[in-house]
Amino acid sequence: MTHFDHLSASYEELLRDPIRDRFTGREPGFFHRRKADLIRRFFRRRGFTTSGLRYLDVGCGKGELLGLLQSDFKQVAGCDVSETTMRQITGLETRVQKDSLRIPFGDDEFDLVTAVCVYHHVPAACRAALTAEIGRVLRPGGIFCMIEHNPFNPVTRLIVSRTPVDADAILLPASEARGLAARAGFARLEQDYFLYFPQALYRYVGQAETLLAKVPLGGQYAVFSGKQLAAP
Ligand SMILES: C[S@@+](CC[C@H](N)C(=O)[O-])C[C@H]1O[C@@H](n2cnc3c(N)ncnc32)[C@H](O)[C@@H]1O
Repeated sequence: MTHFDHLSASYEELLRDPIRDRFTGREPGFFHRRKADLIRRFFRRRGFTTSGLRYLDVGCGKGELLGLLQSDFKQVAGCDVSETTMRQITGLETRVQKDSLRIPFGDDEFDLVTAVCVYHHVPAACRAALTAEIGRVLRPGGIFCMIEHNPFNPVTRLIVSRTPVDADAILLPASEARGLAARAGFARLEQDYFLYFPQALYRYVGQAETLLAKVPLGGQYAVFSGKQLAAP
């Protein structure tokens, strides 16, 4: 049983926090929607259509992000070390990750791999091995997107410090995320900070967040990296 297996039954309740609840406002899925939009915008900026691509979410939890992006991709799949958490997912391909450092899919199977709020639960000594494993399941030229809490945002730090789900969390700055990707042989592509405005405000001034994407103070960040093409 993993940390998340134990928490699974009361996960939503344990995540509750007055600041977090005010941030998401009337849209409980606000954080997931923002991530889906961020990923869509990344591919749009680069001129890629995703309808022919295969997408894996490592540490997919309850599969909310996969559900939102399912119709954008040819194939979506998820894996997680917590079988109990994934049990609540229906209608999506999921595999239990029996070994935290062994992704249960074959080499070069995916065009996009995401790991969303996973690494801060992975012991620092294991992060490089997990990143190399993500590189294994990505095809050359494929994209790795790591999304994490930003330790430089004081509100993020406060919420994490009092959330039971995050009792084991060790936050990593974007520089560490970039370093992990670089050491696993990925090329650096883009980095965006987001979650500056709560949902109620984002509806009206969402565009302003795009202007702040390079300012390292958003609640979370996304680091996009590319698996290098094999030498000819
Ligand atoms: C905070 S939850 C995030 C879940 C989901 N990605 C989301 O954004 O809602 C972290 C998830 O990572 C999973 N996890 C932790 N270590 C992992 C590892 N080494 N490989 C795969 N999943 C892992 C946990 O079981 C948990 O479901």
